[in-house]
Amino acid sequence: MKSAWKHKDLIAIRPLDAAEIALLHDTARAFKEVLSRPIKKVPSLRGKTVINLFVEPSTRTRTSFELAAKRLSADVVSIASESSSFKKGETLKDTGLNLQAMNSDIIILRHPAAGAPQFLAERLKAGVINAGDGAHEHPTQALLDTFTILEKLGNVSAPPDKKLAGIKIAIVGDILFSRVARSDIWAMTKLGAEVTLVGPTTLLPDTFRELGVKVSHRIDDVLAEAHVIMLLRIQHERQKQQLFPSLGEYVSLFGLTHERFKRCRPDVLIMHPGPINRGVEIASELADGVNSVILQQVSNGLAVRMAALYLLTGGNGPQGVNS
Ligand code: CP
Repeated sequence: MKSAWKHKDLIAIRPLDAAEIALLHDTARAFKEVLSRPIKKVPSLRGKTVINLFVEPSTRTRTSFELAAKRLSADVVSIASESSSFKKGETLKDTGLNLQAMNSDIIILRHPAAGAPQFLAERLKAGVINAGDGAHEHPTQALLDTFTILEKLGNVSAPPDKKLAGIKIAIVGDILFSRVARSDIWAMTKLGAEVTLVGPTTLLPDTFRELGVKVSHRIDDVLAEAHVIMLLRIQHERQKQQLFPSLGEYVSLFGLTHERFKRCRPDVLIMHPGPINRGVEIASELADGVNSVILQQVSNGLAVRMAALYLLTGGNGPQGVNS
């Protein structure tokens, strides 16, 4: 069977359809099995070159992509902007062209400017994966988030657009500046989930309703029904001004505290893309508690990123992962 993957790049979830998301998930599931073996490596990307180009800090995404490429037997190089020729004024286009001139097959880009990965993708023959661009999108984060929800609560054998049907997901926090929220909204709704966004009015404008989600400014109104609560960090680095009076007030109005947790479903899944600000968006013990799947999200990220690298380099879907 031929792979149904049709794209040179992975820039955003928005243009993907549910079947393409399901293909990425199915392929990730096959790679998760590979990762459970004593020898966690396949030759799928032998002879391919993957470049990790990170112009913003990262722990999870950068390490995960690097490990994913290594597990697929690719040659992988990671470049941090502080030690690159960006510091000498080289443009993103020139950096990309020079990396491509070294026969790179895939360039993974994290950048503070929304649109930077698309800009590069339009100028290179190499595939480009967006590892997070400004407040635009973070597609592999949404893929690993939905993969984790699907694994715990979804219906894997349902049609792609119904795999998360009936699942109520609350995304809480700084929605306005969150690329994770945007990618999650697209991925979750395409798979049939019912998404409610929760946050202060300054961080959650009503225009988000246009994305097919509900908007609430009271976390207490969503706790009892949510099957999944996704907490988001306040993105101070993207905010030009203080958008709420104090962290203390934010915690009292929007933090997932022990008191609020008592009003949640007993089986609620607690998720967070990381990095966590313990004691702010989530009580520290809840981040480590039995309802938390935060570290499972991280583990699943490796399989999801293997799937993305594999499909973008011509991989043949889940049935081909061992070849
Ligand atoms: N979730 C995420 O993007 O984490 P990093 O910033 O550590 O990559």
